[in-house]
Amino acid sequence: MSSTARVAPSLLAADFARLAEDIRRVEEAGADLLHLDVMDGHFVPNISFGLPVIEAVRRVTDLKLDTHLMISEPDKYLKACKEAGVDSLTIHIEVCPDPIPTIDAIHALDLECGLVVNPKTPIDSIFPYLDLIDLALVMSVEPGFGGQSFIPAALYKVRALHTEITRRNLDLPIEIDGGVNTANAPSCRQAGASLLVAGSSVFGADDIPSVIRTLQG
Ligand code: DX5
Ligand code: ZN
Repeated sequence: MSSTARVAPSLLAADFARLAEDIRRVEEAGADLLHLDVMDGHFVPNISFGLPVIEAVRRVTDLKLDTHLMISEPDKYLKACKEAGVDSLTIHIEVCPDPIPTIDAIHALDLECGLVVNPKTPIDSIFPYLDLIDLALVMSVEPGFGGQSFIPAALYKVRALHTEITRRNLDLPIEIDGGVNTANAPSCRQAGASLLVAGSSVFGADDIPSVIRTLQG
């Protein structure tokens, strides 16, 4: 089990009118990478930001851009995301019943590829692809909005995934996303998550460096 984790603040909870400033704050506070939530108003009932914003973020930070595509047709935008400067693309298994061509297309762009499952999607839906990907993401809220409460059942999925990854001797980070805060972070890490996404708990904090350190464990 991981005793420590990397932390990816989700920019969804940043002040979009002061994005560069907020990015600098989390960077200086010890963020390990940045989590970018791209929503299309179709796969999820919300619209966040897209390529021009990613490009602007890329210009002001050297942190890796961990990009979570909550969109119905990811294949159409992979190349544009690469050009905008992302480092990894995570796609939902719910929109890619056969994700192998998309995984291959992401790798062909020299990007890391993640697969993500929604709270209602069984975790074993991604087991056939674990040796093909670079990251497995478990949603601990229904995707679409920041600031929701953590769904504790996500921890069972993280544990099951961790067991499977260990059984197969894979070196695959487990990321957890949604409602993560300093109270539930220890359980996330104990369950096997080594990458914690945190939006409101980081950007809403008075002392961001201390929150990030606590989340890291
Ligand atoms: C939800 C997004 C999350 C969200 C996390 O659709 O995928 O990344 O921004 O924000 P908090 O930590 O506030 O739940
Ligand atoms: Zn996300």
